Amino acid sequence: MAQAKRIVLASRPVGEPKLSDFRTEDYQMPAPGEGQVLLRTIWLSLDPYMRGRMSDAPSYAQPVPIGGVMEGGTVSEVIASNNLAFAKGDIVLSRAGWQTHALSDGSGLRKIDPKLAPISTAVGVLGMPGMTAYTGLLEIGKPQPGETVVVAAASGAVGSAVGQIAKIKGARAVGIAGGQKKCAYVKDELGFDDCVDHRAGDFPERLAAACPKGIDVYFENVSGAVFDAVLPLLNPFARMPVCGLVSQYSATGLPPGPNLVPVLMRAVLTKRLTIRGFIVSDFAAKQGDFLRDVSAWLKDGRIKYREDVVDGLDRAPAAFIGLLKGENFGKMLVQVAPQQAK
Ligand SMILES: NC(=O)c1ccc[n+]([C@@H]2O[C@H](COP(=O)([O-])OP(=O)(O)OC[C@H]3O[C@@H](n4cnc5c(N)ncnc54)[C@H](OP(=O)(O)O)[C@@H]3O)[C@@H](O)[C@H]2O)c1
Repeated sequence: MAQAKRIVLASRPVGEPKLSDFRTEDYQMPAPGEGQVLLRTIWLSLDPYMRGRMSDAPSYAQPVPIGGVMEGGTVSEVIASNNLAFAKGDIVLSRAGWQTHALSDGSGLRKIDPKLAPISTAVGVLGMPGMTAYTGLLEIGKPQPGETVVVAAASGAVGSAVGQIAKIKGARAVGIAGGQKKCAYVKDELGFDDCVDHRAGDFPERLAAACPKGIDVYFENVSGAVFDAVLPLLNPFARMPVCGLVSQYSATGLPPGPNLVPVLMRAVLTKRLTIRGFIVSDFAAKQGDFLRDVSAWLKDGRIKYREDVVDGLDRAPAAFIGLLKGENFGKMLVQVAPQQAK
């Protein structure tokens, strides 16, 4: 039997994850039983939510157990099948996790047509992050022509799609990103109207200058100091889809005072703000609309995307740790195995 490899959770991180929180294990590649398929992972998606799965704090999803395979979306190839619905060579979207091979009974697998788009997009712009941007922005943000939409982590998987969809809907898109290189990409390549570097010392003033008519939709990806600068700029009746809080994922406690909840609540009341958290699965019914619209926008060049690829499963832990600190530039992917044409 050939060898397979997996990365398991070795310990629950305190603060930022460390390489020692992960462990690589070799195992015998399993053979598919009746009704099962054997999958070979080609692309593993790395996403900020995985930090939450490493923790056993109460959340909307179960944590990965200690010793369990790290959770994750994959694009995989069926290399052996005892399931009539799947043939050897099929490319599928799976939740196989951080491992080179996995068994599946076929439930939860979705076939991907490699002729429609590069298969890696099934975990990127045409997958969970794209769907998150599309649904959070359109179902909660509801941008109107001429309004100002602001999104942070603007060069990343979700943020890049948020700003481009806002532009398609006729809004003004202002990105926030870490560093000049990312900001230049967001403006020059993705076509945002402006982009502000949150690492600049005078970031709040720069953000205010980039939003002369205030902010109508703030798509929240990061929280922390970025949100502090956004709050005073929100217009009456602004909408705030709360998608992620990446600056807080590794926090070990509350930040030092003062307690700003009264300031926030006063703004919510006087400006009649709509602040709504969401998880992409809340909008599963919109999957068809999302695939139809974003595939078309991708095809006609109105939506662009960028991938940040590392080679080999062994590099997943370091790449994931970097993702939480903004070291990625685009959708973070691990190429676990080369893609083979059917
Ligand atoms: N609700 C849902 O269902 C759902 C689904 C998918 C994703 N999300 C959330 O969406 C957000 C973006 O996810 P993604 O996959 O597209 O990741 P991403 O943007 O590709 O990568 C994360 C980015 O966060 C930014 N960041 C990290 N620490 C920061 C800090 N302290 N202040 C400001 N920015 C910081 C960095 O960008 P810069 O270098 O530009 O700062 C980093 O590149 C995350 O919060 C994620 O949890 C939510």
